[in-house]
Amino acid sequence: MQFRTSGLRSFAGVAAAATIVLGGAFYAASAQPKLDIHFVPTPHEVVKRMLEIAKVGPSDTHYDLGSGDGRIVIAAVKDFKAKKGVGIDLDPQRIKEANENKAKAGLGDNVIFREQNIFETDLSEATTVSMYLLTSINIRMRPKLLKELKPGTRIVTHAFNMGEWKAEHEESVNGYQVYLFIVPAKLEGTWEMSDGEKKISLDLKSEFTDLSGSATVNGKKSDIKGGKITGTKVEFTIDVDGKPVKYEGTVDGNAITGSGGAKWTAKKA
Ligand SMILES: C[S@@+](CC[C@H](N)C(=O)[O-])C[C@H]1O[C@@H](n2cnc3c(N)ncnc32)[C@H](O)[C@@H]1O
Repeated sequence: MQFRTSGLRSFAGVAAAATIVLGGAFYAASAQPKLDIHFVPTPHEVVKRMLEIAKVGPSDTHYDLGSGDGRIVIAAVKDFKAKKGVGIDLDPQRIKEANENKAKAGLGDNVIFREQNIFETDLSEATTVSMYLLTSINIRMRPKLLKELKPGTRIVTHAFNMGEWKAEHEESVNGYQVYLFIVPAKLEGTWEMSDGEKKISLDLKSEFTDLSGSATVNGKKSDIKGGKITGTKVEFTIDVDGKPVKYEGTVDGNAITGSGGAKWTAKKA
């Protein structure tokens, strides 16, 4: 495990261009892209399990950020029937290889490899995402992932986690660690909640998937407990008339509806 990750780290931060001393003269080498991490492919059996964990299927548009030879994007479309696959890589050599592999796999226009920086590419159409980068790069990507991806988007990472953003699932595939993250709905702010006759005011705070804050019921304020956001699903427990009551609901933009036939609703104030 150690050599797999240390191999990646040792190449991180490669210089943008090299200057070669040749026969006493200086020649600028052809401009190399400034990669955050060099190419190391994910083994095929790990690719398969990552796409299973992300539950990639026909309704998905899969993005691989730093797509290397294109194997994850190709497997997403060819083997998991994703409707579209997009690979982003800054290295033109990798884009060339990925396009050759796409042709060998007999895939068409629904597989696209873009020579772009992952920090500059538009991610908004992705419904599933894979990343084999470094924890430090994942953490730098976090604000962009949370801003551009829709709540409920599944992200699978190989070998490296997302720092304080807790994984929903993690497992070892033949010694290779794989993590699943689900983009949480945005719940920060004040919500007006109705549960039958009861009017409840929620003041919500969130940190990735953790939900906290306070609830005011009949003028009595108490802390929210056990708050968790899993994609568009939310759960929390509040004190109602001195008793803990657990609420579970589904978030749709500025509205929350109680799950499983529960009658409560909430609207962002
Ligand atoms: C460890 S490889 C992973 C390849 C592939 N995703 C896989 O799992 O088989 C990382 C890839 O990220 C690319 N890369 C590094 N920095 C990048 C950046 N800032 N933007 C886009 N691609 C980048 C590298 O060229 C390399 O192909």
